[in-house]
Amino acid sequence: MTPTEVSARTPPINAESEATLLAEVFPRDTGRDARGVLILGGAPIDQLIDAHGTPLYVFDEATLRAQCRAYAEPLSRAYPNSLALYASKAHLDPTIAGIVAAEGLGADAVSSGEIRVALAGGMPADRIVLHGNNKLPAEIDYALDVGVGRIVVDSLDELDLIAEIATLRGGQPAPVILRITPGVEAHTHEYIRTGAIDSKFGLQLHSGAAEEAVAQAQAADSIDLTGLHAHIGSQVLDVEPYADSLGIVIDFADAMTQRHGLVLRDISPGGGFGVSYSEADDPPAAGSFVEVIAETLRGRSLDPEPRLLIEPGRSIVARAGVALYRVGTIKEIPDVRTYVSVDGGMADNIRPALYGAQYRALIANRPPEGSKRLVTVAGRYCESGDVLLRDIELPSLRRGDVLAVPAAGAYHMSMASNYNLVGRPATVLVRDGEARVTRPRETDADLLASFAPVDA
Ligand code: LLP
Repeated sequence: MTPTEVSARTPPINAESEATLLAEVFPRDTGRDARGVLILGGAPIDQLIDAHGTPLYVFDEATLRAQCRAYAEPLSRAYPNSLALYASKAHLDPTIAGIVAAEGLGADAVSSGEIRVALAGGMPADRIVLHGNNKLPAEIDYALDVGVGRIVVDSLDELDLIAEIATLRGGQPAPVILRITPGVEAHTHEYIRTGAIDSKFGLQLHSGAAEEAVAQAQAADSIDLTGLHAHIGSQVLDVEPYADSLGIVIDFADAMTQRHGLVLRDISPGGGFGVSYSEADDPPAAGSFVEVIAETLRGRSLDPEPRLLIEPGRSIVARAGVALYRVGTIKEIPDVRTYVSVDGGMADNIRPALYGAQYRALIANRPPEGSKRLVTVAGRYCESGDVLLRDIELPSLRRGDVLAVPAAGAYHMSMASNYNLVGRPATVLVRDGEARVTRPRETDADLLASFAPVDA
């Protein structure tokens, strides 16, 4: 591709598309001030950067809360016997756990670390559900110690392990949900598709593993089987797969009630509700996913009516987060490509390298004026694949400019690494123009201190 060709997948950002990006992909109420500087959560980004440096992950509290409500409100109307669990793998710190809990959501955790941070933020233990395809014995023990609401069993082996641990502990049986693999294909990236038959997650229906698990759980004194779960994948952009998957789970539950006396008290279609990464994306609204799920359930008139658990992660937090990067070196390879390198990259956002995820970016420290150039925004890490945005039209950039990447709240910092021994960026939460640090920037000294000293 020559520098003048624009990739079909990366249309230029004109005034109209910038307005749509700001209105729909950036946090709510993002705009530019009279100087043309981007304002997030009421705070001009130059002030945020002066105080906190770059790369910086800015989370807008109002957007986060609005996304929680976007699920909680339609749920309370369409299916009151329900709880939305925030899939905390998307992004977790104690402050965010506290906000999500205050909005009435619970949390889906996949490790003792996530449970601990959720609890530290004030998430009630009984609103936490523990997931994972290989929970460690110590994590199961810890989860039972703190009294999590449910443990989602992922395999027959794990059912044995949980039963064993719960027997040793004595007392109440462990409250578990079985995760089944419904065999529904959601159209999403292979790495984030989980509901198909060939998946490391869940108990396969067709092999009989799911039924065997129901039978064993019903027979085990140390297990209280409360229901069934099926997650079909992530960044799902249609509502139908949820109706299909829930239908399969309900059919299976009916059969299990007849054959093994299962009383279905909890049912979950998981999470995975897709979001916009660009102004061209048009995912269903949170309320549409909720409606379809609630209708599917109500249509089956289950008695007793099970509690509905849904697990949105990305769609709660993606839009609330913006990544701010400082432009460094700019390299033009004549007739080939212009690389604009920024001070972050694959260590804070692995998604382009891992899934081919595509993002948008705006110049954030000045108005988007002047002639545009086709550039590729590369990260600073020592890997050719460390490209954040391939072929994007941006105003002519200079060293020191700031780029803002929206929809950066989910699966960026939670998947961040210290590759090249670079400290992870700071995260701040903005509200009404005030920013507070929710995670300080990792310094070289922090990294050095994380190693054992050299033996004398
Ligand atoms: N429930 C279960 C059982 C899950 O495995 C997941 C995500 C969720 C809920 C939340 O899905 P969400 O609503 O956030 O899509 N790192 C990938 C996504 C991995 C998702 C893993 N499981 C990415 O960056 O796209």
